[in-house]
Amino acid sequence: MRRLCRQAELADPGSARFELPEHPDGYSLCVVQQGGAVHGYINSCPHTDAPMDWQPGKFLTSGGDYIQCSLHGALFEIDTGRCVAGPCVGQALKPANVYVDGGIVVLDEDF
Ligand code: FES
Repeated sequence: MRRLCRQAELADPGSARFELPEHPDGYSLCVVQQGGAVHGYINSCPHTDAPMDWQPGKFLTSGGDYIQCSLHGALFEIDTGRCVAGPCVGQALKPANVYVDGGIVVLDEDF
């Protein structure tokens, strides 16, 4: 288990990126808060396996409604990771076991 940040440090809607030095493929983590719920995904677009943030930690559309890949604009539902527009429609982000415990955002995952 790894403590990532305090939930209050995340905007709502908002996102953050965390490095995963323990991940064998060198991925980072995409964490998104929307409506008080926090979701975590591996920062890897199913289209090309590239990181998605357009600036470090910036994953959301301007309205904060979707995760948007910066390379070709694929849109992903925040709560499911499912791609609903763009070149990888029907595919989905890889979920990571991220949750809030006592106001702390936690990653509980063995890679
Ligand atoms: S790499 Fe994400 S949409 Fe192409």
